[in-house]
Amino acid sequence: MIQQQFKSISSTTKEVNIMLEVAVPLSAEIEYDITNISNSIIYKTSGLLEKNSNLEGTDQLLFFFAVAIGKRDPDTGNHCERLVKIGSEFGAYLELSPLEIRDLNWGAYLHDIGKIATPDAVLLKKGRLTPDEWEIMKQHVVIGERICHPLASMKGVLPIIRHHHERWDGSGYPDGLKEHEIPYIVQVFQIIDIYDALISERPYKKGLTPELAISLMRKEADAGWRNPELTAKFAEFILSR
Ligand SMILES: [Fe+2]
Repeated sequence: MIQQQFKSISSTTKEVNIMLEVAVPLSAEIEYDITNISNSIIYKTSGLLEKNSNLEGTDQLLFFFAVAIGKRDPDTGNHCERLVKIGSEFGAYLELSPLEIRDLNWGAYLHDIGKIATPDAVLLKKGRLTPDEWEIMKQHVVIGERICHPLASMKGVLPIIRHHHERWDGSGYPDGLKEHEIPYIVQVFQIIDIYDALISERPYKKGLTPELAISLMRKEADAGWRNPELTAKFAEFILSR
């Protein structure tokens, strides 16, 4: 599937050709060899980026890659684009610096880039994941960080990639970070990510109204999943629009 998407994008640039060389064999591995795929992908992708860390347009390549990966799950629609919009607005509301807002926006596209290593059988499974499948799914944050690590421009985005599934009470993954151990930019990202997921219509659910979404997010903050102060600020931001 990914293979077809990459092939359908016509470009003559050197960068895209390099990415195609990596993406096509990787996508074949995703379809036919799902057991030891993670290490192989990390090795190939990181190697490419390390060797080409000064390559003009490498950042764009990562975005290109990330968007193609996102297309594997058609249920999410334009989730990334919506995150960029709301992230820019909420970031400005919180008076984040332009660089922090840029990191937030890049995080919107790149936070799940590690899902390149998640097999379709797990990523697209409709039913409940088994404990083993869940462990595979959780790896995407660590793999994503390792893919982007070689690029200096990604420094501010790495915490979003690694920690976007942590929870305020320490029950998240991969590191079980608690409260302010979770970088602030990650807390902001998590808030906009969950809000967009709640208000969006998916094939299996209707989108909630902003009021209902905020009410649910407050309950989750009360349950210990999110920073209650930041959740209150977000509620103020959304409900005053
Ligand atoms: Fe994720």
